Order: sequence, then C-alpha cells, then structure tokens
Amino acid sequence: MMKLALFAGDGIGVEVTKEAIKVLKYLLDLNSINYEIEEGLVGGVSYDAYGKPITEETLKIAKESDAVIFGAVGGTKWEPLPIELRPEKALLTLRYDLGLYANLRPAKVYDDLIDASPLKKEIVGGTDMMIIRELTGGIYFGKPRGIEDLPDGTKKGFNTLVYTTKEIERIAKIAFDISMKRRKKVLSVDKANVLESTELWRNVVANVSKNYPEVELSNMYVDNCSMQLIKQPASFDVIVTTNMFGDILSDEASMVSGSIGMLPSASLNGKKGMYEPIHGSAPDIAGQNKANPLATILSCAMMLRYSFDKDNLADYIEKSVENVIKKGYRTQDIYSGAAGLKLVGTSQMGEAVLSELKDIMPA
Ligand code: IPM
Ligand code: MG
Repeated sequence: MMKLALFAGDGIGVEVTKEAIKVLKYLLDLNSINYEIEEGLVGGVSYDAYGKPITEETLKIAKESDAVIFGAVGGTKWEPLPIELRPEKALLTLRYDLGLYANLRPAKVYDDLIDASPLKKEIVGGTDMMIIRELTGGIYFGKPRGIEDLPDGTKKGFNTLVYTTKEIERIAKIAFDISMKRRKKVLSVDKANVLESTELWRNVVANVSKNYPEVELSNMYVDNCSMQLIKQPASFDVIVTTNMFGDILSDEASMVSGSIGMLPSASLNGKKGMYEPIHGSAPDIAGQNKANPLATILSCAMMLRYSFDKDNLADYIEKSVENVIKKGYRTQDIYSGAAGLKLVGTSQMGEAVLSELKDIMPA
C-alpha cells in the first residue's frame, strides 16, 4: 500500500497537482498498485482556514505517509505576514520536520524544447545535470537568527550559516551515490575562499570522495559556478551544494532548460520523500488554466523512482512527457509560436500526457 499525502497549496499548485494525480492514478490502477491519498491544506490556504501555514494535523498526515506530493505555496496576499506565518514556512517546516535533507533537482534540455531556452542552442544542447541541494541546514535554519533593536534606534538583521561534518557527509554521500549511476563526476560548489563553514564543506566532501575512487571530484566557487552554468551548461553532471547556493543555482539552471515549469524535484530522507515542481505558486496566472503541469507530473515520476523503486513506471511517465513535447503540445511558458506547435492549457496538457501513457503502456 502506497500511503500518499497530497498538499496542493496555493495558486497554480492546485491546477498542476490535479493533472499529476490524474496521470498517477491511471498508472497505479492499471498496474493494480494499492494506494491511498490523503489531502491537507498548506500555505496561504491553511493560513486563511486555521491562522497558520501548516497545522499539526497536516504535519501528521505528512509524517504518516510514504511520500508527499506538494504543489506550491505563497502569494502576494500573504506577503505582509510575519515570516513565521508566511506560506513558505509550511514548506520549510515539512522539510525540517521530515528530515528531508537531500534535494534532487534535475535540469535537462529536451531536444524539442531547445528553442524555449533564452540561451543559444549551441550552448544548451545536451545539458543534463542533477543539482543536489542540502535542504535542512545552512543559513536557512542556522541559529541565532532574527531582527533586533540597536541602542541607536536602528535595527540589525542576522542569520547564521552553519554546517557540521555529519550534515556535509550525508549529502556528499548522496551526491557520489547518484553520480555512480550517471557520468561519475561530482562538482562541489562552495565559497571556501571567504566562508569557513564552506571551507569545512569542501574538506569533508573531499574526504567522502575517497570512498568513491571512480568518481572525479572537482570544486568551484559559487560565483564562478553561476557564470559557468550560462557559459557551458552541458559540461555539468552532478552538482552538490549548500541550501542557499542550491536554491539560487537551481533557478538559474532552470532557465537553461527553457522553463521553470519543466523542472521536478525530490526531497529525500532515505526512501521517504516530498515531491514538488521547483516553480512557485505563480499568482499572476493562477486559476486561468495556463500553468505547465509537466514539472509536477515529472515529480510524480521521481516519486515512483526514489520512494517506491518503480523505475519502469517512472520511465513510462517520463517517456510520455517527452512524446507529448515531441508532438508539439506547449503550455504558454514553452510556446515559441513556431509552426506545428499546439498552444494548450494546464488540463489539456495533463490529458495529452494521459493519452500518451495509455498508448505506450502495456495493458
Ligand atoms: C525553493 C523555494 C523555497 C526555498 C521557498 C519558497 C521557501 O524557493 O524550493 O527553491 O527557498 O527553498
Ligand atoms: Mg528557490
């Protein structure tokens, strides 16, 4: 029995998860896999209903599930709230309380979408990288933190960037393990020339690498990495980095692939995982049937792969998405206007993937 939690959240989170669940249910039913899906409110909608971005009940649903499917949280409406009550807090609480320390963010360029990237074809062609972001430590969670009054009546705001050997070791291990199934190259990204916490990061990653003699380890400072990602994105394979650097570099990498609407993610603690598109709630297009559901559909594929070891089912989803793109279906974020392309909405895109799946999946 697969115990799934479904937290659609705010804005387009609702529309994109709806399509993903449709595809997932079809696949599970067809393969006679038992599952139950329990829903919960997170983010702004939870705040509106209960006065907080996530409740104990919702956290309990998450803790008792094998995997969480997450849409998106946030919206202009809730921006004035204090940080503890903002929708984003739901996401951070789930990550922290479930111990989801390893965030996998693959960024690849589909040949048929190469024109959707704002970068030149010659540069982005062949890009296929996996960003592994540490997710429960670093400056996002370090203490002390806060905003305090100063004697002169002004204020000071502060956060702490802290990493321990153990935190670095476990994320490095994930990076090396994953690289063994890929091109056996790991790039560790830090700012070791300035920050002690990431000097430790670099040293610990180097130590862990001794257990993986076949994998080639290299290091880069984050500023240089952000430049190289644009200059030669296809040269990257596995990137392992801190919480905040990974946040920033993964948004950058999404542009190489054309649209942030294409990129899935997995946040893992062993087999337990939370799966979400890396895009946000996009309040500007919410409720208009415009959002791209592919990142969420692909996140469900990651779920089948990483939480349930159903690699072949994940492959079917990924293949269906690829075929749909090949056939010219495009939501607005990946639509170039070129001849032969069909501009579709969120639900039509979901339907297209589903019908493709029906075609390719042996009954
Ligand atoms: C992400 C998002 C989150 C983060 C926000 C919404 C808290 O940007 O998942 O990349 O900063 O981690
Ligand atoms: Mg981000």
